[in-house]
Amino acid sequence: MNYLTRVKANTTRLATTICITASLTTPNAIANNAPQLGKSPLNDVISALTLQEKVLIVTGSGMDFPGLPPSMQGPVVGIVSDGVAGAAGTTHAVPRLGIPSIVLADGPAGLRIQPMREGDKKTYYATAFPIATLLASSWDTELVSSVGAAMGNEVKEYGVDVLLAPALNIQRYALGGRNFEYYSEDPLVSGKMAAAMTRGIQSQGVGTSIKHFAANNHEWNRNVIDVKVDERALREIYLKGFEITVKESAPWTVMSSYNKINGTYTSESHRLLTDILRTQWGFNGLVMTDWFGGKNAVAQMQSGNDLLMPGTQIQLQTLMDAVKNGALDEKILDRNVAAILNIVVQTPTFKKYNNSDKPDLVAHAKVARTAAAEGMVLLRNQKASLPLIAKSSVALFGNSAYNMVTGGTGSGDVNEAYSVSLLTGLTDAGFVIDKKLQSNYENYLTAQRKSQPPAMPFMLPPPIPENTLSLDVINAAATNTDSALITIGRNSGEFVDRKQDDDFYLSKAEQQLIENVTKAFHQQKKKVVVVLNIGGVIETASWRDKVDGILLAWQPGQEAGHAVADVLSGKVNPSGKITATFPLKLNDYPAAENFPGVVLEAADPGTYNPMLGDKAASVEYKDSIWVGYRHFNTKGVKTAYSFGYGLSYTEFKYSALKLSKPSVDGELTVTVTIKNSGKVAGKEVAQLYVSAPEGKLEKPSAELRAFAKTKLLQPGESQTLTFVIAEKDLTSFDVSQNNWLVDAGKYTVKIGASSTDIKLTKTFKKKNESRIAL
Ligand code: BGC
Repeated sequence: MNYLTRVKANTTRLATTICITASLTTPNAIANNAPQLGKSPLNDVISALTLQEKVLIVTGSGMDFPGLPPSMQGPVVGIVSDGVAGAAGTTHAVPRLGIPSIVLADGPAGLRIQPMREGDKKTYYATAFPIATLLASSWDTELVSSVGAAMGNEVKEYGVDVLLAPALNIQRYALGGRNFEYYSEDPLVSGKMAAAMTRGIQSQGVGTSIKHFAANNHEWNRNVIDVKVDERALREIYLKGFEITVKESAPWTVMSSYNKINGTYTSESHRLLTDILRTQWGFNGLVMTDWFGGKNAVAQMQSGNDLLMPGTQIQLQTLMDAVKNGALDEKILDRNVAAILNIVVQTPTFKKYNNSDKPDLVAHAKVARTAAAEGMVLLRNQKASLPLIAKSSVALFGNSAYNMVTGGTGSGDVNEAYSVSLLTGLTDAGFVIDKKLQSNYENYLTAQRKSQPPAMPFMLPPPIPENTLSLDVINAAATNTDSALITIGRNSGEFVDRKQDDDFYLSKAEQQLIENVTKAFHQQKKKVVVVLNIGGVIETASWRDKVDGILLAWQPGQEAGHAVADVLSGKVNPSGKITATFPLKLNDYPAAENFPGVVLEAADPGTYNPMLGDKAASVEYKDSIWVGYRHFNTKGVKTAYSFGYGLSYTEFKYSALKLSKPSVDGELTVTVTIKNSGKVAGKEVAQLYVSAPEGKLEKPSAELRAFAKTKLLQPGESQTLTFVIAEKDLTSFDVSQNNWLVDAGKYTVKIGASSTDIKLTKTFKKKNESRIAL
C-alpha cells in the first residue's frame, strides 16, 4: 500500500472509530496555508497541532487484539487489517499538516508481517534469518551488518518504516525464554553485534528500535517485575551493550522494556530515558514503550518516553486530561512530538517511497544460509569424525532432523515461505539418508501432529515427545548406514521462560536415544554426531563423552538444513564460538538461587497490558556483575564449554603478540599473528581479554575488551590482526564517585582462542588512575 492510500485509510478509520479524533480529519479542518512537515520549520508544525493531535501523535494508533476490552483498543486497527498486514503497530497521521502514519514491525530474526492478505493473491513472505545468538556466535560484525542490510531491504520493500530490532538483553541465565533473540551473556559482544545489525538495517533508509531497554532478562511476570540491581552491575552489564549501540550506530529509536528497575518502570524513568540515554550517551532519536508497557502515561511522557505503543484510548484520555488540569506541561508533549516527527521525516513513508512488495527473497535466502553456517559452533570432534565422508550414508535420528526449529516463537518469529529440514539439506548435499528410519519418523510426526490442538498464533506449540525407537530399528540403521546423526531440538519464545527438566536437561527419551544409538553404531565402529538445534544453552556434560562429534547449529533460520549440511559436509569449515558459557549444571549460575523471582504480597493493580495476568513480583540480581564467564572463570567454577569456545576442522597458531607502547595512557594498539597450521582453509576468532591490577574495586579475573576474526586462511597462510584498546575500554564503574575508573598498575593482555584457552599474554602499565565522567 503506498503512502496516499495509507493516509486515506487512516483518515477514514480515524473519522469513524473515535470521537476524540473527529475534528482532525474532516475535510473542513484542512487549512490551505497550514505548515507542512518537512517543508515548514518543525516548531511551526508543532504549533499548528491541536492538543488532541499532539496527544494522538504520542500514542500509537492502537491494536486490534481479539479479546481486548474497548477501552484498551486503540482508535484504529493496527495489527492486521490496515497498513502492512501483520505489522505490530502504526502511528497517527495528521494529513492536514503533511504528517503520515508510519509502520512499525517486528523483529530480530527478520521482518514479521502476515504472508497472506484477504482478497489478495500476492504473498508477503519474509526471510527467516538465523537467531541473534547464532549471529553473535560468528563474531563477525560485517556479516551481521550484511544480514541487517538484507532484513532492512525487506522492511523497506514491504512498506515498513521501523524494524523493532535488534534485541540485546543480556543472557543472564540459561532459562530466559527469549535468550534466542539476544546475542550474549557479555555486554561487549551484545553491543558490537547490535551496533553492526543497526548499521546494516539503517543502511537501507529504514529505522531500528533497539530493545528492551533495559534489564529485561526473562519473561516471568515481565510486565510488572521489579528488577533490583545494583548500580555497578547496571552500568557494566545491563546498560553497557545499549551504550555501545547508541554511540556506535545511532539507532533511530529505542524501545523501553516492560519491567521496573529498582522500583520504577523503565518507561517512566527519567533517569534512564533522559539522564542516561540522552544526556550521558547523546541519543537523539525517539523512545517508544514495549507494547502496552508501563502504567502511568503522564510519567512516561515526562520521563522522555515519547511514544506509547500500540496506543490505547485510556492513554489518550489520560494525557488530554493531564494537560488540561496542569498535571502535564504541554511543553513536554511538544518535546516528545518533536522527537517523533524528527523520525517520521526520515522514513520511506514520509519520503513517499513506492515500495515494490517484492524484495529479492532468493538473494536474501543466500545471505541467511551463509550467515547460518558462519555462526555454527563445533563443540566436539573426536578423531576427526567431522566432516562426514562425501556421499556417505547417514541415519538421521531425532524429531527435529525432519522438522528443524528455524527460530523461536512470539514477536521474534518470522513468516517465511519455507524452511529446509536437515533431511533435505543432507540429501541436497549428496548424502544418502536411511529411508526406513525416515519413514518411521515421518509417520510418527504426522500422527503426533494430528493429535495436537491447533497452534495458537504467537505461542509456543506443545512439544512433540521424542520418537522412541526399538533396538531393532536402531540396529538395522547401524547396519545399513555409515554414520548416525542425532538432532536435539528446542524451542522457546515470548511470554514464558524455559524449564529445567526436558529442556535445559535432556529428556529421558533423548538420553535413551543417545545411549542406544551410540551403543549400536559404536559396536559397528561407526560414528555418532549430535546436532544441537537449540535457541539457548543446554546441559551437555552428562552425555557428550558418549558421542563422537557435536555441532551446535542453534536455530539457523529458513535455510537451516542447507546450512547444517554445509558444515557437516566440510563445504564450510566451522568458525563460530559460543557467546554464552555452557555450564555443567543449572545450579552453577549464581542466578539459579532466585530465578525468576518472587511474587510480592501486595497485588499490583495492573498495567496497560491486558493480555497477561501478571502478578506484582520482584527479583534481586544478587549476582551483580558476576554474570556468565565473569562468574565461572573468576570463581573457578568448571564448565562444559567456556565462553568463547569453538573448534575448527583446521588448527591455528598464535604468535608475535605486540603492543604499540608499554602503557595505555590514551590508546594502545595490539597486534597478533594467526597462522592456519592445519590442512584445510578456515577462519579463527581471536579474543582479547584484559586482567586489571588489584585496585579499588573487585574485578573479574579477565574481561573481554576486543575481538577480531581472520579472513578465510588457506593452510599455511597467516594474518596479523589489530585491536585497539582505549582507556575507556578498561573501566569499571565506581558507584561511590559515580564515574568510570581505570586503576593505576599493571594490566595483562590475554589473547585467547576462548576465555580459558589463552594463547599469548603481555603486560602494560597505567601510570596514574583515570576517572571518566558519565
Ligand atoms: C515484545 C516486543 C515486540 C512488541 C511488538 C512485545 O510483546 O516484547 O519485543 O517488539 O511486542 O510486537
